[in-house]
Amino acid sequence: MADSVSVCVIGSGYVGLVAAVCFAEIGHRVICVDNDEARVKILRDGGVPIFEEHLPEMLAKHLGRGVEFTTELAAAVRDCDALFIAVGTPQGASGAADLSYIEAVVAEVARSIDGYKVIVEKSTVPVYTNEWIRRVLYRHGVDPSRYDVVSNPEFLREGTAIKDFLHPDRIVVGAPNERSIELLRRIYEPLTSGTYYSQPGALPGPCNSECPAKIVVTSAQSAEIIKHASNAFLALKISFINAVANLAEAVDADVEDIAEGMGLDSRIGHKFLRAGLGYGGSCFPKDVAAFHQVAQQYGVEFQLLREIRKINETQKEIFFNKVLQALWTLRGKRLAALGLAFKGNTDDIRESPAIDVIKRLLEAGAIVTAYDPAAMERAKEVLPPAQNMMYADGLFDAAQDADAVLILTDWKEFGDIDLAMLNRAVRFPIVIDGRNMYKPQLMLEHGFTYVSVGRPANYLAQEGKPRKFAN
Ligand SMILES: NC(=O)c1ccc[n+]([C@@H]2O[C@H](COP(=O)([O-])OP(=O)(O)OC[C@H]3O[C@@H](n4cnc5c(N)ncnc54)[C@H](O)[C@@H]3O)[C@@H](O)[C@H]2O)c1
Repeated sequence: MADSVSVCVIGSGYVGLVAAVCFAEIGHRVICVDNDEARVKILRDGGVPIFEEHLPEMLAKHLGRGVEFTTELAAAVRDCDALFIAVGTPQGASGAADLSYIEAVVAEVARSIDGYKVIVEKSTVPVYTNEWIRRVLYRHGVDPSRYDVVSNPEFLREGTAIKDFLHPDRIVVGAPNERSIELLRRIYEPLTSGTYYSQPGALPGPCNSECPAKIVVTSAQSAEIIKHASNAFLALKISFINAVANLAEAVDADVEDIAEGMGLDSRIGHKFLRAGLGYGGSCFPKDVAAFHQVAQQYGVEFQLLREIRKINETQKEIFFNKVLQALWTLRGKRLAALGLAFKGNTDDIRESPAIDVIKRLLEAGAIVTAYDPAAMERAKEVLPPAQNMMYADGLFDAAQDADAVLILTDWKEFGDIDLAMLNRAVRFPIVIDGRNMYKPQLMLEHGFTYVSVGRPANYLAQEGKPRKFAN
């Protein structure tokens, strides 16, 4: 078993909660602090506030044993050796990350430090945040011998967060000295030595005892940039293939074939070469903006980052035009919207392209009935139920008598629809697919007009193809 460390995780959102239960899973004693009392109560009562595979079982396994939840930061700080800050770093008005939650936490920590602690940035933060954390502690009168500040960015993806945490591609530790590196090595030792993977009940995944997780040790600045640069690069891949998709459409080529041909090159790879409605979520949009802002602050022109964002924004407009082109007018049209979450397997709707598209359709006078396997409750907060905005219990309910079905999120269940049944449910057999979930030929065989991204649109022969709009 691990050389157990007392860990405090501040923030119990997607990152903090997952980190807290996974640290308990690898043998540490964890206190997870959140200032949202309602959330802490749910967690203490064994509730799971977010939709995430394996999280309910992990939480049930460790609650009250390896992991506790509290609102009392001061006591948690005193009891721990390492403090992981996992609070939000949302996008501020200028595009830069709003670091006020981090500063508030650090100021509070400063009041409670009573011995040596390693303060770890788990949240995604711009370069030099580590220096600001040190400065805030110093200004609050904390003796610098009592802390080190380490950057340990998190790379988990919502939907596969627990598995990503326990089977990471790499663990990045940006630290100023051996003492703090040593503590982080101890914390992650069950993953880097592989002992966790040979334990009974260990979550299976790509790492194993022969091929354990790798740790990369850098300076704090480099670690901070690794996170921003990684997210910006993944966003770039998505925007790149979306730009290629638009060209493919213009010349009657097929972006799925193009992505296949490109992705087989081992230097490129298939991942994130998926054309569609563009990226969303709580990370890519804000991180690309924050990275751009940081580059500008330090006098570096990084125009490519502006272009990534521009392509991503345009992608939603292009999709809206596809709907318009397929349906001619939108006022009073009944549209089934399949998907609200920013991607499949999550209930997160932050910066979801699906939500933006639905808002645009409502503005144009359409009547939308939405269905999402997990995100409907969250969506109702930003798209309240109304006469023109309805929520259905299942995808066929949503599709009943629809003038068209729109696929907006890549949930697996939206790629496995009984197409004969769908055809019977709808008013007109038109599917406009923002996630390329189907082969156009299959849709044609099932009698659908099918419009997707980066592939020639299939209109039923009798209908004829409308002229393409210039976007
Ligand atoms: N969500 C992801 O997929 C993901 C992946 C990698 C990195 N990140 C980064 O991790 C950070 C957290 O993201 P998230 O999605 O978990 O955010 P979140 O909004 O889901 O959770 C943040 C939590 O912090 C709590 N909090 C805020 N201020 C607090 C305070 N002073 N004391 C205690 N708790 C406080 C909030 O109540 C909330 O529960 C962000 O910087 C994000 O960019 C997120």
